[in-house]
Formats: sequence, structure tokens, C-alpha cells
Amino acid sequence: MGDSLSVWFLASEVAPFAKTGGLADVAGALPACLKNLGVDVRVGLPFYRMVKDGKFQTQKVLEGLEVPLGNTTLKGDVLETTTEGGLPVYLFDREDLFDRPALYGTPEGDYPDNLERFSYFSRAALLFAKKAGFRFDVVHCHDWQTGLIPAYLRTLYKAVPFLSDVASVFTIHNLGYQGLFPADKLATCGVPASEFHPGGLEFWGKISLLKAGLLYADAITTVSPKYSQEIQTPEFGFGMDDILRKRSANLYGILNGADYCAWDPATDRYITPHYSLGDIKNKARCKAGLVNELDLDQDLADRPIIAMISRLAAQKGCDLLVDVIEDVLRLDVGLVILGAGEERYQTLLVEFGEKYPGSIAVKIGFDEPLAHRIMAGADMLLLPSRYEPCGLTQMYALKYGTVPVVRATGGLDDTIVPFNPETGEGNGFKFSPYESVAFLGVIRQAVDLFLNSQVWKRLMVNGMKADFSWEESARKYILLYEKVRKGRQK
Ligand code: ADP
Ligand code: GLC
Repeated sequence: MGDSLSVWFLASEVAPFAKTGGLADVAGALPACLKNLGVDVRVGLPFYRMVKDGKFQTQKVLEGLEVPLGNTTLKGDVLETTTEGGLPVYLFDREDLFDRPALYGTPEGDYPDNLERFSYFSRAALLFAKKAGFRFDVVHCHDWQTGLIPAYLRTLYKAVPFLSDVASVFTIHNLGYQGLFPADKLATCGVPASEFHPGGLEFWGKISLLKAGLLYADAITTVSPKYSQEIQTPEFGFGMDDILRKRSANLYGILNGADYCAWDPATDRYITPHYSLGDIKNKARCKAGLVNELDLDQDLADRPIIAMISRLAAQKGCDLLVDVIEDVLRLDVGLVILGAGEERYQTLLVEFGEKYPGSIAVKIGFDEPLAHRIMAGADMLLLPSRYEPCGLTQMYALKYGTVPVVRATGGLDDTIVPFNPETGEGNGFKFSPYESVAFLGVIRQAVDLFLNSQVWKRLMVNGMKADFSWEESARKYILLYEKVRKGRQK
């Protein structure tokens, strides 16, 4: 690998500091792996209340950083902390913007000043690096919250010596969230008015921060090869497919990895007892623990427990789940659902839980330890997603011998191979049409197979042996960073 490479890795959530979904897992694990491969990588995120409450050891490294926002200038502090693996992480502090109960909004809706909040973070991150003398070759940003960063580099800061030759990589974790704001707020984000047109960051009369990332970044990545193809079609493109087709020469699909430091049944800090390929029997004890914890019927020890751990959003196939839930119960199984999200799904699922106590356990909320205990205790994990850029839980499930039942879309399609009882190959169950009958059909197949414990064990072992660790993908990112850096140096 060529000269040493410096990367400023900016995301709106990073595990273990702040998390609402898979972006945090990626932004926690990928930089750690890059560091191990010799990249000088630093991570930045807002100093939310959630980070404060985590009681991480921090120290203030800059006071009163001046950040222009609209027609005023805000002053904010920057704190530094270090991960267990020694990675420097910078926290951008502005109480009025980030000291709130949630990261992006409440069940009633997004925070109305999200444009101010993430414009501030994006600009502060660049200005801080300049002021602190952190020379970086590449800025790697993620999703709409950081979409302005590539735009700043190519417009506002295109002649600023420290920043003008920085290359940018923008990763799409989910095209469904586009960071749309009213056009009259353009001055707030500070991108010149001349950029507001259909070939710039205008999207049907609004400002789209996602589009800013897609247009101005030197390279775009998304989190699985399949999704990189899908998003170039009208069906999955959320109106951005045309832009993505135009940028296809600079669009890469790099599969996410699984962070086995956090997700491995042999070492998982939240489960007991531990287990692995060598002593798979202990999984049954995790299952018994889950049955007790959730007050499920004791006779489920010999019947499958089917779980879903997910944001409760249309993307995740919640409609299909709700549709088939009573038919699935008739297969004499237990169902465990952990999720938080849209009110309508939360309400329906809680009602099912109340109607069938002992058979369905529904937990509404975000509960990291419980997510791990379910992963260890369940027999199957459902992912009937309408679309899925990558999906991490199916990869975690494999490692825990919990068999994924997925819809063939995006990263789910890339990672799950249907089990073939004749050859003994494959790692899960997969269906294609977004229809309840198809979903129910594969759940039935899975439940039938479960009764044949020898064959089921083979399927579990196939999954547990698979290796989705980050290194291979991190190396692909490094090659890409080198490529975009070279492109900027010309
Ligand atoms: P997405 O980012 O679209 O939500 P991923 O599969 O990439 O989907 O990542 C989801 C992450 O969030 C996983 O780490 C999963 O365990 C976690 N997760 C989702 N819902 C919950 C919840 N209610 N409680 C705890 N963890 C959750
Ligand atoms: C998004 C996607 C999910 C992906 C995650 C991490 O939230 O919905 O599929 O795994 O980002 O990249």
C-alpha cells in the first residue's frame, strides 16, 4: 500500500457512543479495522446527550470553535475521547443543538432544526481539522446528515489551501432518508445559491443533503454490491436513480462486515453461557434463559423460537410480519419481537403480544443487551425487508447459529444462500416476491426443517462457520481512498 493515508471519518452515529441502527455499527467497526491496517483514521460525531450519558472519558481539545451558520457564527467546543482500540474520536459539542433526548427526532417527527444541526456538524468538522492541523487526504462521510461535506469542499472551500485538495467518499447506507429541507433555508447551510438547481442540490424544489453527497463526492459507495445495482433502478432509486446511473463509474458496492468483537457468542458480554462451534449445546441454555426472561411457554424448548430485532419501519417488512403473525403462531412456535419505530406497528405488535401471552413476546424500545440475548436464544431471525442496503443482523445471526429467513433484496440477497437439504449447503431461507404467502411459505419450510435436528444442526454450523469480518471490505475502502486521493492530486 502506497503512502500513509489519513482519513477523517464523519458520521451522525458511531457505536458505542450513539446508535439507532446499523450505521453506528459500521462507523464503530470499519475505522477500527482501517486503523489496524495502518490508516491514520479519526472519527467525528456530534456530542449528543446519549454520548454524555455514556460517561466516556473525554477531554476538551478546542474551545469556542467558530462555525458560520446562516447569517450568524456559532461557537462550539470539541472534545476528544479514545476507543478501547485506541482510535481518536472527536465529539462536537453545542448543547442547544445536540443535548436532546434523541438523535434525530421523536416519534412525533424529526427535529425541525435538523438542517441547522447537521450543517453545523458538517462545517465544524472541516473547520476543526483545519484549525487543529489534522491534515487528511480523504473525508469519508455517511448518509444525508453529512452530505453537505463533499459540497462544501467543492464550493465554499474549493480555494481554501488546507481543504481544497481533500478527496471525498460518500457512503449511502439508506437511500430512503434524503435530508429534505425547504428551499428558503439555503442560506442556513451556506452552499452558494448558484448550486441550487436540478443539476445541483435541488430536489423537486427542496434542498436535499443526500443529493449533495451524491453529486459532489469523488466516489460514492453503498453497503452491498446488490444494492449498488438496485438503486440505479426506479424501483429502488427513491427518485435518485437517474443521478446514480450518471455517476455509475464512481459508484461502488462494498459489503459491510460484521463486528465479531461485539457479536460473537463465544465472547458476547451480554449473554450467558457462552457458546461456539465446539460447544453448540450451550445455545439451548441461552434459549431456556430467554424463555424464562420473556415468560414464554416452557414447552418451547423443543419448538422453534422465531425472532425479529429491527427498527419498526415499512422498509423492514413490518406489514408482512403483521399479516402473517397469526398463521405463524399456528405452526406452534414462539415469537420474540424487539423493535422501536413507527407508532402503527408498535401498537399492532403490542396488541398481538397481549392477545397471545406465552407465545408472543413483544418488547418495544431500543435495548442493546436484549438484542444480544435474543440473537443467542432464538432459532430463527426474520428479515422480510422491502429493501435492505446491507443488513447486519442476518450476519450476526449466522454467527449465533440463529438461522436467517430473509427476503432476496440488497445485502440480504448477497449474504444468504438458501439451504439445500440434498447437498447440505446454504445458510438460511430466502423468498422473493414481497407477499405474505411467499413469506409464510419459507417460514413453514424452516419450521419443518427444524424438526429434523440433524439437518438443522448442519444448517446452523454452515452459518457459524461463515466469516463476514471487516478486513476484506476495509481493504476495498483503502484502495478506493487511494484512488480518490490520486484523482485529486492530479
Ligand atoms: P438498520 O441500520 O437499517 O436499522 P441493520 O441490520 O444494518 O439495520 O442494523 C441494525 C442494528 O441495530 C443492529 O445492530 C441491531 O441489533 C440493532 N437494533 C435494531 N433494533 C434494535 C432494538 N430495538 N434494540 C436494540 N438493537 C436494535
Ligand atoms: C442502513 C441500512 C442497513 C445497513 C446499515 C449499515 O441503516 O438500512 O441495511 O446495514 O445502514 O450500513
